Amino acid sequence: MEKLEELYEGKAKRIYKTEEDDKVIVEYKDDATAFNGEKKGQIVEKGKLNAEISTIFFELLEDNDIPTHLIERLNDTDVLAKKLDIILVEVVMRNIAAGSLAKRLGLEEGTELSQPILEFYYKDDDLGDPMINEYHIQAEEIADPNDLEVIKDLAFKINEILVEFLADKGIDLVDFKLEFGKGTDGEIYLGDEISPDTCRFWDAQSKKKLDKDRFRRDLGEVEGAYQEILKRLNL
Ligand code: TMP
Repeated sequence: MEKLEELYEGKAKRIYKTEEDDKVIVEYKDDATAFNGEKKGQIVEKGKLNAEISTIFFELLEDNDIPTHLIERLNDTDVLAKKLDIILVEVVMRNIAAGSLAKRLGLEEGTELSQPILEFYYKDDDLGDPMINEYHIQAEEIADPNDLEVIKDLAFKINEILVEFLADKGIDLVDFKLEFGKGTDGEIYLGDEISPDTCRFWDAQSKKKLDKDRFRRDLGEVEGAYQEILKRLNL
């Protein structure tokens, strides 16, 4: 399958048309941003690492009956995927307090949550992706209520699958972000990516951060962390 015209360029990926209307090629970039694009940089080989890492997670989810956009990885940085109409709700799942939750509730980073927390954010760069709840989503018709039920159910299932898989690799899944979309068949699929850009991964023993927080917080060893995640997934 060949890349045709570029449909969209995001902060970490480019999306291309293909000869087939219901398929796109997702190209992962080395570019890294944080704080809604305020901080910019590059992470060596991030495109390749995230394409590979995300493919491993999406294959795992497919094997567990989660519908995803993944068709196949084409080369180092490119993945063939179902074309989705992305629902403008980012779903964040949290197992351990960190980042904006720790700040908002005054919790120490690393505090175990008694049950997973699901949060919604409105996917709008101009507004800085504000946190919203189901009433905002309904009143503003950001997503269909039936679709939202499907998405919530999938998000909790995905969390269970990933937590168990990663625990086996000595990784704590602290939190992560998911995006969903509708395929040309009207069904809901998991889209976007699951990678150290969109998850917090901590080493289960040392609690060392193995994700994009190393870039966000200038902790160094950024590439090494992404490489370590890929190495552990392949164990
Ligand atoms: P937060 O603690 O900053 O709200 O982030 C929660 C999770 O969501 C974390 O794993 C990182 C991920 N995330 C994204 O993938 N994209 C974003 O734009 C933000 C703010 C967070």
